[in-house]
Amino acid sequence: MCGIVGYIGKREALPILIKGLERLEYRGYDSAGVALMGRGKIFVYKKKGKVAALKKFIKSKDKKSLAGGIGIAHTRWATHGEPSDRNAHPLLSNSENIAVIHNGIIENYLPLKKILIEKGYKFKSDTDTEVLANLIEDVKKNTKVSIDEAVRLALQQVVGAYAIAVLSKDDKETIIIAKAGSPVVIGVGKGEHFIASDATPLVEYTDKVIYLDDYEMAIIKRGKLTVKTIQNEIKNPYVQKLEIKIDELEKGGFAHFMLKEIYEQPKSIRDSMRGRINVEGGSVKLGGIEKYQNKLVNAKRILILACGTSLHAGMEAKYFFEELAKVPVLVEYASEFRYRSPVVFENDLVLVISQSGETADTLAALKLAKEKGTTIFGICNVIGASIPRATDAGIYTHAGPEIGVASSKAFTAQITVLLLIALYLASSQGTLNKKEMVKILSELENIPKKVEKALLTNATVIKIAKKFKNAKDFIYLGRGYGYPLALEGALKLKEISYIHAEGYPAGEMKHGPIALVDSNMPVVFVADKGGSYEKVISNMMEVKARKGVIIAIINEGDESAKKIADYVIEIPKTLEFMMPLVASVPLQLLAYHIALLRGCNIDKPRNLAKSVTVE
Ligand code: M6R
Repeated sequence: MCGIVGYIGKREALPILIKGLERLEYRGYDSAGVALMGRGKIFVYKKKGKVAALKKFIKSKDKKSLAGGIGIAHTRWATHGEPSDRNAHPLLSNSENIAVIHNGIIENYLPLKKILIEKGYKFKSDTDTEVLANLIEDVKKNTKVSIDEAVRLALQQVVGAYAIAVLSKDDKETIIIAKAGSPVVIGVGKGEHFIASDATPLVEYTDKVIYLDDYEMAIIKRGKLTVKTIQNEIKNPYVQKLEIKIDELEKGGFAHFMLKEIYEQPKSIRDSMRGRINVEGGSVKLGGIEKYQNKLVNAKRILILACGTSLHAGMEAKYFFEELAKVPVLVEYASEFRYRSPVVFENDLVLVISQSGETADTLAALKLAKEKGTTIFGICNVIGASIPRATDAGIYTHAGPEIGVASSKAFTAQITVLLLIALYLASSQGTLNKKEMVKILSELENIPKKVEKALLTNATVIKIAKKFKNAKDFIYLGRGYGYPLALEGALKLKEISYIHAEGYPAGEMKHGPIALVDSNMPVVFVADKGGSYEKVISNMMEVKARKGVIIAIINEGDESAKKIADYVIEIPKTLEFMMPLVASVPLQLLAYHIALLRGCNIDKPRNLAKSVTVE
């Protein structure tokens, strides 16, 4: 949450900062601002609203104040203080000598603020960040040290999560950044450095990046970089090669990133299994977890921790791990797990799932599980993010950058990789023999084609979306593998169209939700011909008897379901545990088209951000 950008070098900083903010806007978009190092002062411009509002605002400003090769910028997702001009970042210290941008939460900002107020500091915003700006100023004033030293000492007083970038008039040739719990990446160019919350704004300038670790800071001068810990230990930074390509960050002719990402699923699923399956040999090869194979095979239980859509992928995985590998699986919201006293055994295996690899609750749950001595595997999409760096081993989903806030291709890529782990385990343990593995892997190899076919439902989905765009509520129902999909379908609709939607196990409907059903209630069924098909059909009849309107995702040519449902979306049949890979598509498209017809901001839904780096 919140996007940080910085530049120091020979080029003009402002265009780089603005472009970087646009790339990072999916992380937060309630206000944006820049601080540019001028000859005599730091020029700060900030505005409530999206980056576009900031761009418009600075157009009228004195060109000289916008020039120069050093600057920092921020796009905000509000935590402390409502979205407004005054709470937007950068925040200046009282003397206006120091500008700070910040991603995260400074938990002890209130006691720090109290002390600073007693010392005479005045505050113009409600933010925790302004407290940090003044704290740095106060440390500097009292200790007479350099600005980087003042930042380092000030951070020792701070409790909480942060990624910060600091400019100071006292050292006009330096940007200081630091990190604890929130991400920050440095792009290394020739005589220049780029700073960003994630690698997406850096791709067009360099393919060399440095990821700071927690409690590290970097002092960046033109062409020179020093990395040290907050405890003052000098570090030798590891420069990595960035694999993202620039066209992956563009919409490529689609109206929205979400639509592009929905359509990318045949490729992202294929990429996520590429080089990992040997169909003829009936085997799965997972290099990322090879060294820990024993931990997986000997695990008495698998514990899956995740949030949001990633949790729904984990719920699908529970079903196929238990079906194929016969190992018990517990799936838990990371945000719950971390705040209770979970019982975790050393011979459990923990699987954390996260698209961004930065979700604060998932990261905290991972750390808690680690303290209990278990082995942790990660399934992540963003290479080098905090979660994969904190796990023992893991497998990347190769979905490519997912920019739309509503997750789509990451979900199906996660299911693909989870399925590979389940198959790897099942064949290692002998719960599946070679013949069965060959059959399953042949079907898996075929899945991208079935997903392509599912994408052809788009025209049907648009017609349905037109009928229901004004509905006030939706119910999504499914059984077995259809149940987590019902949750995911409802989540997609809620987050991008703002229509209230409930996902429920279809069998639970009679225990309460059926009371909601009347002629105004659209009920979406996942009604593929899986093991619970007959039961789902009975549930459809129950809804029909109460005049509910049924939209059913069915297998191609299922005439019985067609007779019951009011609207059908036909998808190709596959093995039951692979059905979510195919059935996700119409659910995503339905949410997308309803949101589009309602005029919603699909890629940047209100109140949301792509990486939830606050608790
Ligand atoms: O990056 P993560 O997978 O850890 O993110 C978890 C959730 O925040 C995320 O899936 C969220 O629910 C999405 N907006 C859903 O579309």
